[in-house]
Amino acid sequence: MATVKEKTKTKTETLNIEINGRKHAAKKGQTILDVAAEIGIDIPTLCHDPRIKPYGSCRVCLVEVEGARGPLVACATEVADEMKINTETDAIKELRKLSLELLISNHWADCIAPCVKACPAETDAQGYIGLINQGRYHEAVKLIKETNPFPAIIGRVCTRPCEDACRRNLVDEKVSICWLKRFVGDFDLNSENRYRPQKAKDSGKKVAVIGSGPAGLSCAYYSAINGHDVTVFEAKPEAGGMLYYGIPAYRLPKDLLDKEISTVTELGVDIQKNKALGDDFTMESLQKDYDAVFLGIGAQVASKMGIEGEDLDGVLGGVDILREIGLNKKPEVGRKVAVIGGGNSAIDTARSSVRLGAKEVTLIYRRSRNEMPAHEIEIKEAEEEGVKLKLLTNPSRFLGKNGKVNGLECVRMELGEPDESGRRRPSPVKGSEFKIEADMVIVAIGQNIEVEKTGVKSTERNRIQIDNNTLQTSIPNVFAGGDAVVGPDTAIGAIAAGRRASIAINQHLAGEKIKLEDKSFSAEKFGISKEDFKDEPKAKSVKMPDIKVSERKGFKEVEEGYSEKEALKEAKRCLECGCIKQNDCDLRDLSQEYGVDATRFEGGEMLHFDIDARHPFVKQD
Ligand code: SF4
Ligand code: SF4
Ligand code: FES
Repeated sequence: MATVKEKTKTKTETLNIEINGRKHAAKKGQTILDVAAEIGIDIPTLCHDPRIKPYGSCRVCLVEVEGARGPLVACATEVADEMKINTETDAIKELRKLSLELLISNHWADCIAPCVKACPAETDAQGYIGLINQGRYHEAVKLIKETNPFPAIIGRVCTRPCEDACRRNLVDEKVSICWLKRFVGDFDLNSENRYRPQKAKDSGKKVAVIGSGPAGLSCAYYSAINGHDVTVFEAKPEAGGMLYYGIPAYRLPKDLLDKEISTVTELGVDIQKNKALGDDFTMESLQKDYDAVFLGIGAQVASKMGIEGEDLDGVLGGVDILREIGLNKKPEVGRKVAVIGGGNSAIDTARSSVRLGAKEVTLIYRRSRNEMPAHEIEIKEAEEEGVKLKLLTNPSRFLGKNGKVNGLECVRMELGEPDESGRRRPSPVKGSEFKIEADMVIVAIGQNIEVEKTGVKSTERNRIQIDNNTLQTSIPNVFAGGDAVVGPDTAIGAIAAGRRASIAINQHLAGEKIKLEDKSFSAEKFGISKEDFKDEPKAKSVKMPDIKVSERKGFKEVEEGYSEKEALKEAKRCLECGCIKQNDCDLRDLSQEYGVDATRFEGGEMLHFDIDARHPFVKQD
């Protein structure tokens, strides 16, 4: 039993405080942080460690105390009687954000590797390259398929923004990330015990997907994993959308495409081919029979130049001719073919024309080679096959005789300041007109969308209008993504959009408010240069084996794929740029939570330290 003296002492040591409006009896000697923790109020901390004396250096635990001259650090401020504390005001949140931004400004590190950050699907390239390095191929595929169901396809056709961003470019040349993905995707597809994802239990909900292109199939794949009953409607005889009808078989063999698409049907997804919206079903009928609809109709109508002579016989759209090839029709091409455009579709059209027997194929592009959206390797392979590039050139009209095209009048272009796409804007050079002979002209400058068929609202640019936060169209249970929303984009962009839509659909079907995560926060090594890698041993990228130019007559696949030995050698080149703490880091989590702008104080002098491990449990890196 306590003595009177002891009772008096206890009484005097009890402090009445108020924290976020809640009254509490605190003990003398407790910090604001201790008291908050005791009553379940979370105050963020970074430098605080109960084993060491509070130092108050990171300032992310700032709180407001009534009557104080400024914000106080909760970890080092002891409570006082009648103290009124507020931990969650807007001003405090702003100050914490500022503290985090100051910390990040001198935190020379990459949470996520640049290759991962550059990928529209945020596929963990560093992770799967690491698994390939250890020979854990099925696990590598499992990791890829968390964000991209089609490693073998994308490993062949991706525009590879990850490789452009790869840090290894500062040492010698990029890691061939996509070819590694292709290797492991092929390995898994051809193995007896290929990776099969675990499905959630049957939700009892039905999802209709219109279009079996990369966006539609990606949405179908993840929706099936989420336990929904999915039906895909495809207007054409084969599944794959632009993957089937827009990419020639020498880049993406049809049997490989079908095989990887079968990993979607294996999940129970029903792909109904030759079923077109408007002809075989309507939006009304789908809404009656399904709980949610995803529109992944792509952009399939060739854009026009809008210049004189475009209706002449022999002037065609790039997607139209690629579609004919996809349908196995072997269209007739002219002797002298001119292809207009600088993207992958233009290159595909030009290379296909060579294979279909054209004697001379000229690719006309209005900017320079540096600005061509097509991937460098595709341009190089096209040149090897005889395609001539006519750069800084734009057609001003198509020429013809008796209703048939026989050439183009072109004008030379020069480059000015960058436009909204970041590429330098081309403008015509006065009086520079000249003629190019051609008995076939293929316009491959982009594609349009048939929005009107869908009955949902469109944007001014004739794309499907969606709410960017929920991906819902003007009809709430109808979602959309891919080219139909953003215009012609990459296959990996469409895959990312399809997956995102599957998350939105899943939340919607569960009756939840749709909340899609933004790209996750990542600190970045600003100002990194070749100098930082001067001691890194050089090792050139392993070349992709390909068939000889003389053998590239038909539509046989040109690139043959890495052997296991080659893949392992290439995987070893990865610098493992992303931080090992990326999935378990308070600084990163708080930066995400407080919406930190990692670039806010960019440009100041970065302090570099050697690792200091003298302290028993604090290591300065
Ligand atoms: S995960 Fe954490 S420790 Fe690693 S780089 Fe990002 S913020 Fe820094
Ligand atoms: S070196 Fe490896 S981790 Fe770094 S960017 Fe390249 S592929 Fe990614
Ligand atoms: S946790 Fe309080 S100042 Fe760092």
